[in-house]
Amino acid sequence: MLPTKMTEALNKQFNNEMQAAHAYKAMATYFSDKGYQGFANFYLVQAKEEDFHAMKFYHFLVTMGEKPVLRKLEEPKNHFENAVNVVEESLAQERAVTTDIYTLATLAEELKQHSTKTFLDWFIKEQMEEEEAFRLILVKLNGIQEGGEFFLKMDEDFAQRTLE
Ligand SMILES: [Fe+2]
Ligand SMILES: [Fe+2]
Repeated sequence: MLPTKMTEALNKQFNNEMQAAHAYKAMATYFSDKGYQGFANFYLVQAKEEDFHAMKFYHFLVTMGEKPVLRKLEEPKNHFENAVNVVEESLAQERAVTTDIYTLATLAEELKQHSTKTFLDWFIKEQMEEEEAFRLILVKLNGIQEGGEFFLKMDEDFAQRTLE
């Protein structure tokens, strides 16, 4: 069992991860719609990764004798100016998630929930990697033209992404 406050906060993040998956699927549609199938694949794999994160919270709650609770998802952002705009939104979303994970980790420390803190350590590292990945994509995209030669090369590379 966990303190009620801890269970509620973990359940909130369980739902946040599903909301992130929802948002990434909406981002994928920007690229699918334009015929950039590699970028679309990258975002659809990203969505699967967020669902995998959600399920980590699901299983952790069950392991601790608590019940996961599913909430209603919000409508994600469905309109984007351009590819750079999509990646900027992704980075902003990952930064917000990092803040949420830190808040959870702080609560776990305050409530002396060591197992929860250990569980969250994986996410702290994961968020570092997620933010870095989007930062690097943004740097590349800022220097090239959408639909141009280098953009299409990136599209080809992103077609290779699979869920590790
Ligand atoms: Fe996540
Ligand atoms: Fe993420």
